[in-house]
Amino acid sequence: MPLWTGRFKKQLDKKTNDFNSSISFDCRMASQDIKGSIAHATMLGKQNIIDKSESEKIVSSLKGIAADLESGKLEIDMSAEDIHTFVEGELTKRLGSTGKRLHTARSRNDQVALDLRLYLLDEIEKIDLALKEFIDVILKKAKENYDAVMPGYTHLQRAQPITFGHHLMAYTAMLLRDRERLADCKKRTAVSPLGSGALAGTTYPLDREYAAELLGLSGVCANSLDGVSDRDYVIELLSCLSLVMVHLSRFAEEVVMWCSWEFKFIELDDAFSTGSSIMPQKKNPDIAELVRGKSGRVFGSLVTLLTVMKGLPLAYNKDMQEDKQAVFDAVDTVLICIDTFAAMLDSAKVLKANMRAAAAKGFINATDCADYLVKKGLPFRDAYKAVGELVAFCIENGYTLETLPLEEYRRVCGLFADDVYAAIDLDNCVKGRNVKGGPAPQRVLFEIENAEKLNK
Ligand code: ARG
Repeated sequence: MPLWTGRFKKQLDKKTNDFNSSISFDCRMASQDIKGSIAHATMLGKQNIIDKSESEKIVSSLKGIAADLESGKLEIDMSAEDIHTFVEGELTKRLGSTGKRLHTARSRNDQVALDLRLYLLDEIEKIDLALKEFIDVILKKAKENYDAVMPGYTHLQRAQPITFGHHLMAYTAMLLRDRERLADCKKRTAVSPLGSGALAGTTYPLDREYAAELLGLSGVCANSLDGVSDRDYVIELLSCLSLVMVHLSRFAEEVVMWCSWEFKFIELDDAFSTGSSIMPQKKNPDIAELVRGKSGRVFGSLVTLLTVMKGLPLAYNKDMQEDKQAVFDAVDTVLICIDTFAAMLDSAKVLKANMRAAAAKGFINATDCADYLVKKGLPFRDAYKAVGELVAFCIENGYTLETLPLEEYRRVCGLFADDVYAAIDLDNCVKGRNVKGGPAPQRVLFEIENAEKLNK
């Protein structure tokens, strides 16, 4: 039976009932629904809105329902309209008319808003932990490769020398920001809508703060209309998760490239690669590609929520029931992507020699060569032009800056001397980039230590 009997003479049309029902997906909020009801019933008892002894019976019966669901003794009835209906129905089955008192001074509208907040707070916790552990893996790899020279790229063209550790630390910076954003989003999620009622509050003398406190929430929604119709916290979380996926997808794309024969900077473990049904030689980075692809689902969920909420009049509208599947899919997707990516990275082999070989081609020390002339007094623009001529000469005649004879250097600019070779040595070039946030190995180690402190 639905909760809304009395006014109706007919049952809901069968197909329409399925269309309207949300239990198939909101059943995953069962424990949060019960937790919210326990707090509500406790508060009703404390305020003498219902009898103290009835409040206690309700609380203990709700705990029994939670335990029975957990142990599998009780199964959720999928013909109930939603999880709220199921829990209240089960309570009434167990307690008779006492169970019918639970919904005093409450509506499913403030109830569902609370349940979703509680559910998402639990998920934020899990995602934050997954990010922390992922960052730990990156930091470990960065430490092992803090001085492994590789080419840094712009436009996917070899640009200037960096280290693999430095490159990895860029992702640490992104993911630490993601953790900060989640912590911030949590603040606005941890607010209780209970007491908003259907939309206009209630005539009962509730202690809203007390119920919020029981739930570990930091405060209560300031306005009853907003309390039942606010889904900003869902959109904020989806925005945070979308950025996580932007970062993962960029990292995934680099892994895909690094695994190719064109790069061969890393080798994925067999346990995290797949083969081809026809090409015996293939070893494919499917996991990284899937992470890259799954980012689309998470962005899709963000757009779903923005579109559902856009233009909705106050207060609750059933459109909002569409929030759950989108955000549930997003949290599931992000969690599995972070965990799988972390394990894949952890087991990957870094091919330092190939990175160094790539760094030795592509004239990535050309800027350093120009800087050498600047340090000898030449204006940067003149130095830039001189080295440009040298690079063109090298390309035409099959030299690198390292192998070019000194007389060729001096033909272009008399300031060049024997010490130019040390100035363009790749290790020296990296060491010289000793600015805060730069790739000099000592700086990278400092950055790693700092990140270790932040990643608690
Ligand atoms: N299942 C609904 C939802 O997910 C909550 C129930 C509120 N329904 C209502 N008709 N007022 O949003």
